[in-house]
Amino acid sequence: MNFVVVVHGGGASSIAKDRKERVRQGIIRAATAGYNILKEGGSAVDAVEGAVTVLEDDPEFNAGCGSVLNTNGEVEMDASIMSGKDLSSGAVSAVQCIANPIKLARLVMEKTPHCFLTDQGAAKFAAAMGIPTVPREQLITERNIKHLQKEKQEKCAQKPDQQKNLGTVGAVALDCKGNVAYATSTGGIINKMVGRVGDTPCIGSGGYADNEIGAISTTGHGESILKVNLARLTLFHVEQGKTLEEAADLSLGYMKSKLKGLGGVILVSKAGDWAVKWTSASMPWAAAKDGKVHSGIDLGETCTTDLP
Ligand code: GLY
Ligand code: GLY
Repeated sequence: MNFVVVVHGGGASSIAKDRKERVRQGIIRAATAGYNILKEGGSAVDAVEGAVTVLEDDPEFNAGCGSVLNTNGEVEMDASIMSGKDLSSGAVSAVQCIANPIKLARLVMEKTPHCFLTDQGAAKFAAAMGIPTVPREQLITERNIKHLQKEKQEKCAQKPDQQKNLGTVGAVALDCKGNVAYATSTGGIINKMVGRVGDTPCIGSGGYADNEIGAISTTGHGESILKVNLARLTLFHVEQGKTLEEAADLSLGYMKSKLKGLGGVILVSKAGDWAVKWTSASMPWAAAKDGKVHSGIDLGETCTTDLP
């Protein structure tokens, strides 16, 4: 079985030149981490959790310590994870003061009878599981403080929400036993209302995994993604016989024409094919398979290197 892992660093309207190389290195590091887990016999769930943890720990990405700020200048994070083997899933929303929401989502999946914990309940559960809290400031970067100030000043002249920088991070994987999984994590949308929850923790919107079909992780405008159930909609088209690319084009096209919502998806099929597609201006992505890592940020750009 050809194992594979694909990661994304969020749909974006543009990525400044000086950040591009850091973003590229970060996304390749995450794909490599996921690939190494699979190579050593780890499961698809282990691989997507491992890859997303790398991105949550990288301040260049809107998740974990790079999360955008809500209207109060605070970080509130959403994450979800799913195993295609038995459709088990775990999600958390509006969590604060933990470094890796994706790890908490996995614990919800594996250690509770539930699929989704939020806010105070999620925090209580994190403490019960021995997850340390981190100081609020540890998750707040200078870049995101400036970004919020700018957003507030320019609000009236700004683009509609559907077309802003809409970062999220995510991973999909197929392991050597034929199991697929996805993980998605985000700080959400800048200047969001306190308590706003996006698509990322919602199974079927922020991602989906089913061994009968494949796995998908999404990024983009959360309110649009929720309305079309972007992840499940895309896999529905795959079930109907479309290729991964055709399915992604259909669902992203529908979201754009119906709601003007922009976004992106990464997919793996049960056969080990993979695809990346987006309607935002750019989307950092990387795919690791057969000892090689392919990556890109802008449309039409792919570079391939050997994995160490
Ligand atoms: N957390 C239990 C389940 O997803 O089935
Ligand atoms: N897709 C991330 C969000 O809107 O929260």
